[in-house]
Amino acid sequence: MSAAASLTGELPQEERARVDADEAYHRLLARLSHQSVVKHYDAYADVPWDDPAYAIDPDDPRFELSDADPLGATAWYLSQPQPVRARIGLHMIATFARIGWQFESVLKRGLLEYALRLPENAPEFRYCYHEVIEEAQHSLIFHEFVQRTGLATKPPWILGVGDRLVLGFARRFPELFFFFVLAGEDPIDYTQREMLQSGEELHPLVERISRIHVTEEARHIAFARHYLRRNVPKLSGLKMFILRLRTTFVMAIASRMMSRPTGHVVRTYGIPSEVLREAYGPGSKGAEYIKRALFKPRELCWELGVLNERWAPLWKRLGIYAPQGSPV
Ligand SMILES: [Fe+2]
Ligand SMILES: [Fe+2]
Repeated sequence: MSAAASLTGELPQEERARVDADEAYHRLLARLSHQSVVKHYDAYADVPWDDPAYAIDPDDPRFELSDADPLGATAWYLSQPQPVRARIGLHMIATFARIGWQFESVLKRGLLEYALRLPENAPEFRYCYHEVIEEAQHSLIFHEFVQRTGLATKPPWILGVGDRLVLGFARRFPELFFFFVLAGEDPIDYTQREMLQSGEELHPLVERISRIHVTEEARHIAFARHYLRRNVPKLSGLKMFILRLRTTFVMAIASRMMSRPTGHVVRTYGIPSEVLREAYGPGSKGAEYIKRALFKPRELCWELGVLNERWAPLWKRLGIYAPQGSPV
């Protein structure tokens, strides 16, 4: 038992709860850090890139979108020749990987900025560095994957202009930064878990990368969630207002980016706008998918008062609202 815990019997109830919460938070960070030591992956040692079974053939039917996918279910997609169907699927995965490493670049820089400003004995310091190291391995994996597809990828423009702003959050408003982290990580995690659990035959490289990512992201997400639970309740009224406003837009933008083809993919394959409306417009499968992908971070927003009845109209307008406890 720690010195602090041995004193808890003498402390008033509120103070005792605070000490207990402090200890639980420290234990969680120690556990996550330990997991990063005993269960981590190397981009080149742990992915058999040169195994012939892992080679990428753009015509491989395993890259085709299934009918569970909003675009994959459209008559337009089904009417395309098989090699085009496979190539669209592969191009979308490659673009998500491209977005993934660009997002992780902002994330790593933000974590370093945040860690630099921590007090000397902060428990977050070590875990932030483990997370930066893991994200660097993920980015190597995503980058190598995109190179091996041989396809040109172009991330959405908004990702390139928002990074300075997000680094500013990491320095001055870490609660907002960690909501940005969840807005990026949670929808990717949801998509990868869905894919792994779908029962469809996956390309072994896609499966390997997804398994590695899901394992390590679970730790990153746990850290961000616990950080927010501990710190958001301490924010002032003004900061809560800014957090509510910006988190809503961050969630809407991040979830859209990771769930539909980018403008570049749309132009490359000439996907008609009515097909995009059918797949992703109001009331579509794609619109529902975004709400499902945001279920966990949205629930956290409900819990912490970042989303409440007053703010619900904005969430509805942006197509990311669902009542508390409901995935859609
Ligand atoms: Fe990652
Ligand atoms: Fe992560």
